[in-house]
Amino acid sequence: MKRIAILTSGGDAPGMNAAIRAAVRYGIYAGMEVFGVERGYAGLLEDKFVPMSMRSVSDIIQRGGTILRTARCPEFKTKEGQKQGIANLKKHGVEGLIVIGGDGSFMGAKALSEQGFPAIGIPGTIDNDLAYTDFTLGFDTACNTVLDAINKIRDTMTSHERVSIIEVMGRNCGDLALYSGLGGGAEVIIVPEHTLDIVRIVEKLQASKARGKLSGIVVLAEGAGHADEVAAKIKEISPLSVRSTVLGHLQRGGSPSMKDRFLGTSWGVHAVKLLEKGIGNRICGIRDNKIYDMDIVEGCAMKKQFNLELYQMASIVAR
Ligand code: ADP
Ligand code: F6P
Repeated sequence: MKRIAILTSGGDAPGMNAAIRAAVRYGIYAGMEVFGVERGYAGLLEDKFVPMSMRSVSDIIQRGGTILRTARCPEFKTKEGQKQGIANLKKHGVEGLIVIGGDGSFMGAKALSEQGFPAIGIPGTIDNDLAYTDFTLGFDTACNTVLDAINKIRDTMTSHERVSIIEVMGRNCGDLALYSGLGGGAEVIIVPEHTLDIVRIVEKLQASKARGKLSGIVVLAEGAGHADEVAAKIKEISPLSVRSTVLGHLQRGGSPSMKDRFLGTSWGVHAVKLLEKGIGNRICGIRDNKIYDMDIVEGCAMKKQFNLELYQMASIVAR
């Protein structure tokens, strides 16, 4: 291939800029012309193609968000939308597309590949909700952002001998709560994959208080409930002093961690190498510390397994 394009789609994630930078620079190094498509699939339909140069991606590896911007585009779910997208790609002489996004965005890449237009997916989402890869781009940075919040909230909870419910993102996936809860020493982690009733939660908090702990941190995945509702239920059945915080979109921003810069750079280059060989219909991932790619249909069909062992370990060591 001599001309390729790249877009970011769905929710943004720290590390997307690192991936754009790597794909653009490796593509140019390999003798290709690289276009950026602004605003995801919406920009594909609106013909928002921008030629990218080595310098157009200067000074972005450390920036959160995505310089190409992102959007949600229901029209691209239709056959007509996809045909229009392919027509616009072809109009610019583009032969292959890199899509950075989550499972929804991968469905768009799959549709393009099925219609004969090679597309490669890079997993960009703070949710870590894709089964075929151990980690997604942005997850590590989001975990570190949550850790920073837990540390700060812990300070004031300890002074006042309180319990704090901290609601984190993740959609239907509990990984962000699990990993940040483990790293932040949360006394209780509530995830959608594992039910924990309110009586058990209160028992855990009271037992840890009885062991001499001055504060209690409950990390709650948004897919498992709302912070203020959990706080209200705890207050209803116990004398514990409880506060709640919803971390919200601050989890999606910020300078990417080293790990996310590494993943973005590795996947950006990997995706271009696949297109260079004329290969499409693949998604990039990392498994057992090795960068790899797999078939888009197979990868998207895999069911994510919740890491119960890690969950139990976190609970045992947070006593
Ligand atoms: P994410 O990629 O983070 O999972 P979304 O689920 O919102 O985010 O999907 C992002 C975009 O991907 C959608 O707005 C739409 O343009 C495209 N998309 C989602 N599902 C499909 C589908 N089944 N077929 C084609 N395109 C899709
Ligand atoms: O998929 C990423 C994510 O941040 C989820 O964790 C969250 O549920 C959702 O996007 C929020 O979407 P929006 O930015 O549209 O409010």
